[in-house]
Amino acid sequence: MSNKETFGKTIGVVLAVCLVCSIIVAGSAVGLRETQLANKAKDKQNNILAVAGLQTDKSNKEIFSSNIETRLVDLSTGNFAQDVTAAEITDYDQRKAAKDPKRSSKLSPEENVASIGRVADLATVYLVSDDQGKLQRLILPVHGAGLWSTMYAFVALKTDGNTIEAITYYEQGETPGLGGEVENPRWVKLWPGKELFDAQWNPAIKVVKGEVAADSKHEIDALSGATLTSAGVQNTFTFWFGEQGFGPFLNKFRQGALTNG
Ligand SMILES: Cc1cc2nc3c(=O)[nH]c(=O)nc-3n(C[C@H](O)[C@H](O)[C@H](O)COP(=O)(O)O)c2cc1C
Repeated sequence: MSNKETFGKTIGVVLAVCLVCSIIVAGSAVGLRETQLANKAKDKQNNILAVAGLQTDKSNKEIFSSNIETRLVDLSTGNFAQDVTAAEITDYDQRKAAKDPKRSSKLSPEENVASIGRVADLATVYLVSDDQGKLQRLILPVHGAGLWSTMYAFVALKTDGNTIEAITYYEQGETPGLGGEVENPRWVKLWPGKELFDAQWNPAIKVVKGEVAADSKHEIDALSGATLTSAGVQNTFTFWFGEQGFGPFLNKFRQGALTNG
């Protein structure tokens, strides 16, 4: 060590290096934020398309402008939200709204079946039409607590407002190989053809451990080794297709009684 290298100088160099590194990290985080948000939005679109069932060569952008209509539903009435502009629909962030006391409702312990605490007053729905403009599917976003995380999914329904065409879990933080199997294509393939409601139009999906009868309209085989995540899936479907979720909307939809407000 030369005499010029004092303790103070060493600390000074360390601090300078730390400062430069933190500026680089903070700068990258801020600079990449837009890209991250854009990628997240793109991923969401891809997941909507994955359950939309459209056979087309069109680009995602074209499909979203010509085949998929985004609407907001007032969950309390079941009707489409009144007086919202196209820009407001595009910009609507249901997760943010669910945290805002002015735009969401706190669920009572009995209502809080999916352990989400609050529910946004308005929910986004996607109406999928073919190139002739005929409605083909409804896509409804749902979410609920698993064992470790809130799990987000899209559920695509036939125009009877009851039969499942497809589901996709697109965001969750369960254990890979256990609860994370909600994303396994083999498990996801168990859902098409199942019916959300029983003859009295009560939510009827049952995620069951053990044998599922081949002709069962409502039962889905639970994830093996992931009973708690499976219970989370069950609770998500019970909540979102009940009275506090899309129950009133689907009821009106089936009766052709939807209004704008
Ligand atoms: C490290 C670790 C991670 C786990 N991850 C999950 C999970 O993601 N989902 C889940 O339901 N159970 C998970 N479990 C297991 C639960 O603790 C519990 O044992 C399981 O849900 C019981 O399911 P089974 O009755 O089908 O075996 C995990 C356990 C351990 C030790």
